[in-house]
Amino acid sequence: MSCDRILVTAKQLESVVSGLAEEIAAAYRNLDNIVALVMLDGARYFAKDLLANLDFPVEVVFIKASSYGSRTSSCGRVRIGASADLTNQIRGKHVLVIDDIYDTGLTLATLLNRLRDYQPQSIRTCVLLEKAIEHTQKIPIDFRGLIIEDAFVIGYGLDFDGRYRDLPFIASFSPKHACSAKNAHGA
Ligand code: PRP
Repeated sequence: MSCDRILVTAKQLESVVSGLAEEIAAAYRNLDNIVALVMLDGARYFAKDLLANLDFPVEVVFIKASSYGSRTSSCGRVRIGASADLTNQIRGKHVLVIDDIYDTGLTLATLLNRLRDYQPQSIRTCVLLEKAIEHTQKIPIDFRGLIIEDAFVIGYGLDFDGRYRDLPFIASFSPKHACSAKNAHGA
């Protein structure tokens, strides 16, 4: 596995995101009190484009969750950031959890468990990518962009040790290889 293989191009991402927005719009358009809960840092790029495609108002709440650090596999412990106002932001609302990737499922499982304490009216999940693996935690995904192979991936918000998030495409990555937009295109 090296970083010279693009799995999803920028153009494909645009089309996937717009398709997801259509599905979400069909499900939520006639509801009030919708909250998009965006998982930082990875989902920031995806959520920005996704929400820009919606033609109705959505409150946006950001929450920090992390378990990978500078590794390419989950450390198995998910840290969810504190948000003092989460009760008011969630209670009685239709919550759409937005994450960039469903891998082991530990991050979403931890968040969803915590969210139930805040008594939302409904919770649905949206991920850009789902890995084609046996997930450690099985999560019901309501809106899914693409299923991808079992590779460590970077770009469009996904990082390795804080780097490569701003690549406009999704590529596979091996920590042994330096990666740039140039060599990721195979140049
Ligand atoms: C990544 C990604 C997801 C999570 C998915 O976050 O953004 O939130 O891992 O993995 P899982 O299904 O195995 O739990 P990460 O912990 O790397 O933090 P980051 O979003 O700040 O990059």
